[in-house]
Amino acid sequence: MTQDEMKEKVAAAALEYVENGTIIGVGTGSTANKFIDALAAKKEAILGAVASSNATAERLRANGIRVVDLNQALSEVDSLAVYIDGADEFDPAKCLTKGGGGALTREKIVAAASDRFVCIVDQSKQVPYLGAFPLPIEVIPMAEALISAEVRKLGGTPQRREGFTTDNGNIIIDVTGLEIHDGLALEDRLNALPGVVTNGIFAHQRADIILMGTPDGVVTL
Ligand code: 5RP
Repeated sequence: MTQDEMKEKVAAAALEYVENGTIIGVGTGSTANKFIDALAAKKEAILGAVASSNATAERLRANGIRVVDLNQALSEVDSLAVYIDGADEFDPAKCLTKGGGGALTREKIVAAASDRFVCIVDQSKQVPYLGAFPLPIEVIPMAEALISAEVRKLGGTPQRREGFTTDNGNIIIDVTGLEIHDGLALEDRLNALPGVVTNGIFAHQRADIILMGTPDGVVTL
């Protein structure tokens, strides 16, 4: 089975976690895109979807799925029933690195507004600890040099993502060279730096369920 086929299988499997009459959160990326395409078959059953990026909102609309602004959604319901999204890597505690597509801030907001987070990945994303994938940090542009210096003090190597602006008008600094054994602590430490909007460690907003595509089928973790 190809990586693409594994993504299709987990995307289809995630439909089981979508309950009728709910508003759900939808992530960003190639795996989330496959989920959106699969969700089209259930579009009449849900009240709508909150998108984690402009690209996801466009794809939802193209599939005839009602896109709901998060503030509007939370005036209709207490919380989103489920958030479904991919990840760049996940560790045994279901902590994630996200933001390869640059949508980490809105992804974290929508995840935080959801009752549970179902993460859809292929098996290439499984790691013993986070850090193999460069850690994205969304930064207010004027703070680039400051945050880069702070990241070097932590042992990381920062690199600005060239030619990329987030949906929120900010830059992304990708950090290599970190071995992340305490995701909660590093997530908090980075978020405390003035100028950081969000970092891509999802330890506070870790997955509740991981659907992992393998050549033998979908494994639920
Ligand atoms: C986007 C993300 C994506 O979930 C992550 O990059 C995984 O993407 P893909 O499903 O294409 O492998 O965090 O900001």
